[in-house]
Amino acid sequence: MTDKTYEPAAETVARAHVNAAQYEEMYARSIKDPDGFWGDEARARLDWIKPFTKVRNATFAHPDVSIRWFEDGALNVCANCVDRHLATRADQTAILWESDDPAVDAKITYRQLHEKVCRMANVLKGQGVVKGDRVVLYLPMIPEAAYAMLACARIGAIHSVVFAGFSPDALANRINDSAAKLLITADEAPRGGRRTALKANADEALLHCSDKVKCLVVKHTGGQTTWVDGRDVDVKAEMAKVSADCPVEEMNAEDPLFILYTSGSTGRPKGVVHTTGGYLLHAAMTHQLVFDYHDGDVYWCTADVGWVTGHSYIVYGPLANGATTLMFEGVPTYPDASRFWRVCEKHKVNQFYTAPTAIRALMGQGEEFVEAADLSSLRLLGSVGEPINPEAWLWYNRVVGKERLPIVDTWWQTENGGILISALPGAIATKPGSATRPFFGVEPAVVDPQTGKEIETVEAEGVLCMKNAWPGMFRTVYGDHDRYVSTYFSDFKGYYFSGDGCRRDQDGYYWITGRVDDVINVSGHRMGTAEVESALVAHPKVAEAAVVGYPHDLKGQGIYAYVTLMAGDEPSDELRKELSDWVRKEIGPIAKPDLLQWAPGLPKTRSGKIMRRILRKIAENEHESLGDISTLADPSVVEDLIENRKNRD
Ligand code: WT7
Repeated sequence: MTDKTYEPAAETVARAHVNAAQYEEMYARSIKDPDGFWGDEARARLDWIKPFTKVRNATFAHPDVSIRWFEDGALNVCANCVDRHLATRADQTAILWESDDPAVDAKITYRQLHEKVCRMANVLKGQGVVKGDRVVLYLPMIPEAAYAMLACARIGAIHSVVFAGFSPDALANRINDSAAKLLITADEAPRGGRRTALKANADEALLHCSDKVKCLVVKHTGGQTTWVDGRDVDVKAEMAKVSADCPVEEMNAEDPLFILYTSGSTGRPKGVVHTTGGYLLHAAMTHQLVFDYHDGDVYWCTADVGWVTGHSYIVYGPLANGATTLMFEGVPTYPDASRFWRVCEKHKVNQFYTAPTAIRALMGQGEEFVEAADLSSLRLLGSVGEPINPEAWLWYNRVVGKERLPIVDTWWQTENGGILISALPGAIATKPGSATRPFFGVEPAVVDPQTGKEIETVEAEGVLCMKNAWPGMFRTVYGDHDRYVSTYFSDFKGYYFSGDGCRRDQDGYYWITGRVDDVINVSGHRMGTAEVESALVAHPKVAEAAVVGYPHDLKGQGIYAYVTLMAGDEPSDELRKELSDWVRKEIGPIAKPDLLQWAPGLPKTRSGKIMRRILRKIAENEHESLGDISTLADPSVVEDLIENRKNRD
């Protein structure tokens, strides 16, 4: 890590919504007077159907954690993202869609967006969807994904987007967990010149769901699909038939807006629940200030709407601000490694927000791919998803940013709703690898994991917690509030526990050091080791499995699986492949183990607990420093594992 500081360029400061002095002043007020600060922001940034009189009503006190913002106010997210812009920007592009095929793109104005969303909302209503119902989306990166999200918001239905890379099983689990009434999918999802058969996956998933679940299908590629009469509905055809007028539903600020499933250290993925008022305020405000978005800018976040980044920073934040938001269906390396930069040039992108894993992949392809494009429209670069290693940061800065653009390294989580720690480009100097300083209203605490006490000195190292509620934070785990309390508010009482380790330096800058729990960050996507383990042991030949993360050049972390076979089953290369494919089928391609090692035995304590610390060291090739293994029930398994390391793939 490097402590070199990069001051913002004069032109960045001149343009910025917030300068250094304003940041300090606003931050101080946001902590001293949160009700005044957030009340003012909520009135200025959002249109309310019914004004709120109460700003904040929140406690992290165990076990009665309860978070409410603007609780007696009413608004509608879709009205804020679409309708209210019609008076001033009806003909401005709202969504700039770039297809997987570089020859195809589309511009959807706010007027067109309004019409599409209203029609989609009427189709949903026609299928019996009412306020509070859950609707699952399993879609490619096409405008219909945004229409569907906004249509749900318009009528008060709760959407749950499932990343199109997830398997039918994972989709079925999510449909069932929230007892969704309806699934919206597409025939196929094109990516990188290949097509994923989404509808076929949906058909398979629906075999495991209630037969009352309807399936709306977007005919996107026109690819052949099977059709179940009475269940499947051609959305585009229906949209053409229904009215283009659909009133907005009045929603309480605390009514749920969406559920998004995310992996944790134990059990099945959790349905993170975000609500209406606080979430939208946080998404809109961070989008404007962190990316320094100004009217007329073209903003591009390369994430997928299947992740929270796509929710907050492709759809809700930008559209609440009346922005032009670019939505990209493809991948960074198709047709070649210049795609991102060609798209920036073609659409004159001003803000570009991507993930370290993409930067590392493109870095390896050579600078000529970047130089092939005119990037003079760019004003800001962003990073999200995992700690950005200084090499990638410096390359991003030099090759893409030409050493003139600010880089905002934004730290946050699905649970957070929006960015919590990041530079504001005109206010905070950056250091490669540091997310820098907290956003307004965010009070981080570095906590000693042993004592559970906050470390009060400026320089500190420990686990990252939050002391107080912010408007965009999640309110519960769907259907399981106890799990919300026990996962996030129990280890360190009185705090929200992020699961990340961190260091705070002498300047009060935060450096995220990665997860301290059994969660792996693969290419910026969160994967619970327990989830991969339970997929593996579901295979008839697997007796036991233990999964850990290990450093991976491109992905940040890779998935390393230790597998013990049932007595009588023999290791083989075919079986290794079979198990990898099995996990891919059970969860999705992102969960596929990168390395799989046969383990005749796993290192366990006498009480039967697997000692992952040892497995991590072996995976990292650091078996010289295993530490104390004397508490193992059978220390000789360690020798076997080290010996077997050679036999992994
Ligand atoms: C985990 C959250 C919401 C962003 C997309 C991922 C890691 C995320 C950073 C960053 C260091 C980061 C953390 C966090 N993370 N951004 N800028 N620097 N680490 O959302 O799937 O909920 O994962 O991603 O470990 O806990 P997510």
